[in-house]
Amino acid sequence: MPNVYDLTGKCALLTGAGSFKETVEFGRVEGIGSAIARKLVSSGCDLLFTYNRSVEGAKALEEELIRLAPGRRIRSASFDASRYAEEATRLVARAEAELGRIDLLVNNLGTTYIVPSEIPHDEPAAEVENLMRVNFFAAYELSKRAVASMLRKRAPGYLVNVTSCSLTMPHSKRPAYGITKHALHGMLREFASAYGRHGIRILELQLGIFETVMTLPRLAFYRELCARGAVPLGRPGRPDEVGDLVAFFASGACDYLHGSEIRVDGGLTIRSFDTLKLED
Ligand SMILES: NC(=O)c1ccc[n+]([C@@H]2O[C@H](COP(=O)([O-])OP(=O)(O)OC[C@H]3O[C@@H](n4cnc5c(N)ncnc54)[C@H](OP(=O)(O)O)[C@@H]3O)[C@@H](O)[C@H]2O)c1
Repeated sequence: MPNVYDLTGKCALLTGAGSFKETVEFGRVEGIGSAIARKLVSSGCDLLFTYNRSVEGAKALEEELIRLAPGRRIRSASFDASRYAEEATRLVARAEAELGRIDLLVNNLGTTYIVPSEIPHDEPAAEVENLMRVNFFAAYELSKRAVASMLRKRAPGYLVNVTSCSLTMPHSKRPAYGITKHALHGMLREFASAYGRHGIRILELQLGIFETVMTLPRLAFYRELCARGAVPLGRPGRPDEVGDLVAFFASGACDYLHGSEIRVDGGLTIRSFDTLKLED
């Protein structure tokens, strides 16, 4: 999609970009964060994005973005969300120092844990705790600090939280993942209520099935599921389709969009009797 939203002069902090895997079956598969990064930069943003294990991918992405927008402030920062207590303060301070201010925070990073056994909810406590740290606590701490920075600088901006169709479709193979996304949903409501009056806007994107590194182990199955009708549009989503929506929101094109959740899922969460196969 062409760049229809102008973000010139805005400064964004984005978590979780640069992940990728080269595969024989599907070619190069990347994460949603990289697509958001490309869209923000090509729309005019300065950007600080984070990575954790994808050191090589983040370096390559940073170089690509600098080539795309020479002279613009494009930076990457290592950020381990499981150590959010120390790392969130450091990251927001770096964003302020290097970008000047934060007009947009995108809480995109995330991880999952799939129960290997057939026993529902059979998740080790340590895995549950890690999911909560990575998927919720890190975003909460970053958001608090980003909002404080916006208020201090009298420069209200935008927050985006990436959640999941798990909010409407529980899954007994990865329940704690869904629960962490519910916690993020609670944060949306708290922040929307508290900071709207300051002009700070917040949006939640509830994603369906996307072709990324996270879904790679089950991608063939997901494609087949989509084609068989589980997703009315008949295919998984593409990461760039999330990037477009983030750019739209951060552009202020719809200034009344606040405290809202948008399902970006090709219709996956529209429950139809057709998908229940009751007539068979
Ligand atoms: N793909 C889907 O179908 C789908 C559906 C619903 C929601 N989502 C959500 O979309 C977001 C992006 O995921 P994705 O699908 O693009 O998967 P992905 O390619 O695996 O990307 C996940 C990102 O999160 C980062 N991350 C994971 N654990 C981290 C940690 N402990 N500390 C810091 N960063 C960490 C990864 O960094 P490194 O690679 O550098 O470690 C990576 O950049 C997640 O919030 C996910 O829950 C995805």
